[in-house]
Amino acid sequence: MSDSIADIVNGVVDGSLSDELVIDWLRDIFENGLDENSTIFLTKAMRDSGKVLAWPKDWSHLVVDKHSTGGVGDKVSIILAPALAACGLKVPMISGRGLGHTGGTLDKLESIAGFRVDLSINELQKQVGEIGFAMVGQTDSLTPADRRMYALRDVTSTVASIPLITSSIVSKKAAEGISALVLDVKYGRAAFMTEREQAEALSQSMADAANGMGIATSVVLSTMDQPLGCAVGNALEIVESVETLCGRGPHDIEELVCVQAGILLAASGIAENMEEGALMIHNSLNDGSAFTKFLDMVEAQGGNRNDFASDHAMLSSLGLLGDDLLSTEIYTEKKGWIKDIDAMSIALACLELGSGRKTLSDSVDHAVGAIIEAQVGDEVEIGDPLVVIFHREELPDGLSEKISSAFSVSLEQVMVESRISQIIG
Ligand code: URA
Repeated sequence: MSDSIADIVNGVVDGSLSDELVIDWLRDIFENGLDENSTIFLTKAMRDSGKVLAWPKDWSHLVVDKHSTGGVGDKVSIILAPALAACGLKVPMISGRGLGHTGGTLDKLESIAGFRVDLSINELQKQVGEIGFAMVGQTDSLTPADRRMYALRDVTSTVASIPLITSSIVSKKAAEGISALVLDVKYGRAAFMTEREQAEALSQSMADAANGMGIATSVVLSTMDQPLGCAVGNALEIVESVETLCGRGPHDIEELVCVQAGILLAASGIAENMEEGALMIHNSLNDGSAFTKFLDMVEAQGGNRNDFASDHAMLSSLGLLGDDLLSTEIYTEKKGWIKDIDAMSIALACLELGSGRKTLSDSVDHAVGAIIEAQVGDEVEIGDPLVVIFHREELPDGLSEKISSAFSVSLEQVMVESRISQIIG
């Protein structure tokens, strides 16, 4: 079985297998699944289809990464990577772009003037050695099998298969040469997996594959019903990331950063346990060391650290102060406590205004987005602000009403729950 999987993956990469044959094979996995061992063989073969990064022996055990299945307002990576570097870990983070209602880390970073995400493998490795981390896009030399397989899955509706998602995601992370990985698997109405059972099955499959390849892997299962934090939209999310890197971030974002990064610090032996790791990360957000690492990355990847010297300089360089950027505030017509904010409605409204891509070839408007002003659990009076929308043209008819109806208000006090429902591993 392992030989035949390796042969097929070779045929995918060298082009000796036609699209039709690859599609038949993918469809067979989509319909009939793959057992745990075969999923590990497939993941290894995909990792080995291209270059696998190697790191100096004296710190290769410190090389780690995280992956999120994506959500609305999810800027955790942009805070977690510099905070981990500030605590002594090495993070060669390779991320993706946004599509549909979810944003992408690369699009958020490209809000920063001059920022380059297209580093070569040599540049990536040099930067990780020098400042401890880099945040970049996929390169052609890593996991070429995934590129062809994903493109064929995309056009044949065979993306939603647990073994295929597992091998796609885990092979890309394994090719970074990491020793520990944390997976943030989200479920809920604005997640890739809406049901918790599906998310648990995917978590187990990805953790089994990554652990089976010698990567110490844990999963944080978290809810994605409401937007994460207050900011949705590329440049606005950079502002909120900077706030969090300076110890002033929203509680839900900081909790996810501290828990996921704490797990990685414990897995690499820098912290005794997750709690100690989480405290180290919390301290790095409050003593300026995580923010300094972020500025080091901005400078190393083509941006200007002085753009973050004051709020005015930051907002101006991120394009959030231009005269052509309009803002519309939406107010509540009900009194009570905010019970729910439908992340999907907020994300689709921002997408319609140009903050994201409907198809891969669309361009994004980095300044467009929303700032949520009343969070779940907040008490509101009639006329209190709920959200500010940043947009270029007049809002289309009915959009304000759609955004307003994303907020539910209860007459009874609402308790705020942690987004983390389970930690596996
Ligand atoms: N993201 C990936 O990188 N691969 C998948 O298969 C699904 C989501």
